[in-house]
Amino acid sequence: MSIPRGKISPSMMCAPLFELERCTRLFEREGIEYLHMDVMDGRFVPNYMLGTDFIRQMRKLSKIPLDIHLMVERPEDILEWFDFQMGEYVSFHFESTVHAQRVCAKIAATGAKPMLALNPATPLYVLEDLLPDLSAILIMTVNPGFAGQKLIPQTLDKIARLKAMLNAAKRPDMEIEVDGNVSEPNAKKMRASGADIFVAGTSSVFFSGRSIEENIKIFRDCIV
Ligand code: DX5
Ligand code: ZN
Repeated sequence: MSIPRGKISPSMMCAPLFELERCTRLFEREGIEYLHMDVMDGRFVPNYMLGTDFIRQMRKLSKIPLDIHLMVERPEDILEWFDFQMGEYVSFHFESTVHAQRVCAKIAATGAKPMLALNPATPLYVLEDLLPDLSAILIMTVNPGFAGQKLIPQTLDKIARLKAMLNAAKRPDMEIEVDGNVSEPNAKKMRASGADIFVAGTSSVFFSGRSIEENIKIFRDCIV
């Protein structure tokens, strides 16, 4: 059985606003799999990012499915603001709610796919009893909140441990997403550890030294 190629989810908060449409058309031509939308509420993380209207506009601009990353406290209170669509991924953080299973069920009821996000310090064992309710897992390889941070090295081994845990739980199908300083050299290591979806921010697709076209081509080769 062949392993599907790694998927790219460009972090749209890193996209130059004045080039949003050009970037999106380019992503369509290049077969980019998802668009990563970071939602930050200034409480769960010390920053504000992409809101509900921006997300609605993105759905009008492109058919590429969204990968919505909620970095908000009490996600259960705001889920219906977003009109989640069939096939979209919606991730939320373990620490953001005391009712993680209920949040998964509410996301699944919209037709979207629930994903649990784990901060660098959050242990893998919190996943154990949620696996039946999840479609994917997001491993944060930096602390959430900002682009342009440095990889927290122990998260590489965490990806490998998660892959082993999923195989042991007979869930090899479950996708692992990685987010934070997913540079070309880091992405190669993450791929070797078992990552499937790569959030591409200022470290790769939006790296400022080259064109976005060149960045995508180089990055693809790192995650085959
Ligand atoms: C936060 C974001 C960032 C960022 C990724 O959840 O998704 O991690 O934009 O891009 P880098 O770390 O490469 O700047
Ligand atoms: Zn993110």
